[in-house]
Amino acid sequence: MNEKNASIFGLGILEGTSAFVTGGGTGIGFGIAKTLGALGANVTIASRRQEVLDKACAELSEAGVRALGIVCDVRDHGSVKRAVDQSVEKFGGLDILVNNAAGNFACPTEDLSPNGWRTVVDIDLNGTFNCCHAAFPHLSKSPHVGRIVSIITAYAWGGWPGCAPAAAAKAGIQSLMRTLAIEWAPKNIISNTVAPGPIADTEGTKRIHEDTDRAAAELARVPVGRFGEVEEIAAAVAYLVSPAARYVNGTDLVVDGGRQFKATPRPDAK
Ligand code: HXC
Ligand code: NAP
Repeated sequence: MNEKNASIFGLGILEGTSAFVTGGGTGIGFGIAKTLGALGANVTIASRRQEVLDKACAELSEAGVRALGIVCDVRDHGSVKRAVDQSVEKFGGLDILVNNAAGNFACPTEDLSPNGWRTVVDIDLNGTFNCCHAAFPHLSKSPHVGRIVSIITAYAWGGWPGCAPAAAAKAGIQSLMRTLAIEWAPKNIISNTVAPGPIADTEGTKRIHEDTDRAAAELARVPVGRFGEVEEIAAAVAYLVSPAARYVNGTDLVVDGGRQFKATPRPDAK
C-alpha cells in the first residue's frame, strides 16, 4: 500500500476479516490483495498459474500479510468451490469477495470466433457468478457484513469497440451486482462494483491500448491527463469493504479520472 492510501485508512480497519481475490496474483488484483492485507485482512488469491501465486504470496508474506494462494479456474464452479472452501478452512470464515479475474483481447467483432466470445464471457461473467455462488454461504455469516466487489469498467455502458465480449460481460456483471444488492442484502451481503479507467503498468492497458498503438489517443480522453495507478483502484475497493461503507449497496464506484464522459472513438480514429 502506498503512502497516500495509508494516510486515509486506519491500518487495522480490516483486522479479523478474510478476503478472497480472484486474479489476485497480478496487476490490479495484486494491488487489491496488498492493500486489503496491509489493512489487516487475511488474503486468499486465486488464479490459474501456480508460479504466479507463489511469487505473489511470497511478496505478501514478506509484507506481513497472512496470504494463501490457490490454483483455480473461475470458469469451473467445482474448482471455485474447492478454493473458497480451502480458504475458509484456513482462515475460519470469509468476509470479502473481490471478483477481479478477467480475460480480454482486442479483436474486431466481425473477426471474433464464437469460442473467442464464449471464452471472455465465461471468465468474466460466468466466473463472477461462480465465485458469488460459492462464497454465499460464508459471506452471509460474516460478522462484518459480507462484501462483494466486482471489478468492471465504464466501457461496459460507454461502448467498447474491439472488445465486445468484455463490454457485454462487464455489463452483465454490473447487472448481477445490482440484483444481488437487492436479493442478498437481507441475507447479510452487500454488493458493489469498482469501474477503473485505463490503469498504468497493467496487462489490460498493454493489450487494449499499448499493443494496439492507441495509448496516446486514450490518454487524450482522460480529463485528469494521466492513466490511473493500481493503488487508486485498491483504495476504492478498500473503502467499499471497510466499516465506513456498510450502507453502500448496489452502486458503481467509477475510478477513471473522468474518462467515462469522453466518447469512445470509432476504431479507425487515432
Ligand atoms: C482473437 C483470440 C485472441 C485474440 C484468443 N482468442 N486470443 N481471438 N484475438 N487476440 C480466441 C482463440 O483463438 C480461441 O478461439 C478463444 O479465444 C480461446 O482462446 P484460448 O487461448 O484457448 O483461451 P484461454 O487459454 O482460456 O485464455 C483466455 C484468454 C487469454 C482470454 C484468451 O488471453 C487469457 O488467459 N487472458 C487472461 C489475462 C487477461 O486477459 N488480462 C487482461 C484483462 S484486462 P478459437 O475459435 O480459435 O478456438 C481487462 C480489461 C482491460 O479485462 C481494460 C483496459 C483499459
Ligand atoms: P491481469 O493482470 O491480466 O489480471 C487478470 C487476472 O485474472 C490474472 O491474474 C489472471 O491470472 C486471472 N485470470 C484470468 N483468467 C482466469 C481464470 N479463468 N480463472 C482464474 N483466474 C483467471 O489484468 P489487469 O489489467 O490487472 O485487470 C484486472 C481487472 O481489472 C480485470 O477485471 C479487468 O477487466 C479490470 N480492468 C482493468 C483495467 C486496466 O486498465 N488494466 C481497466 C478497467 C478494468 P492467471 O492467468 O494466472 O489465471
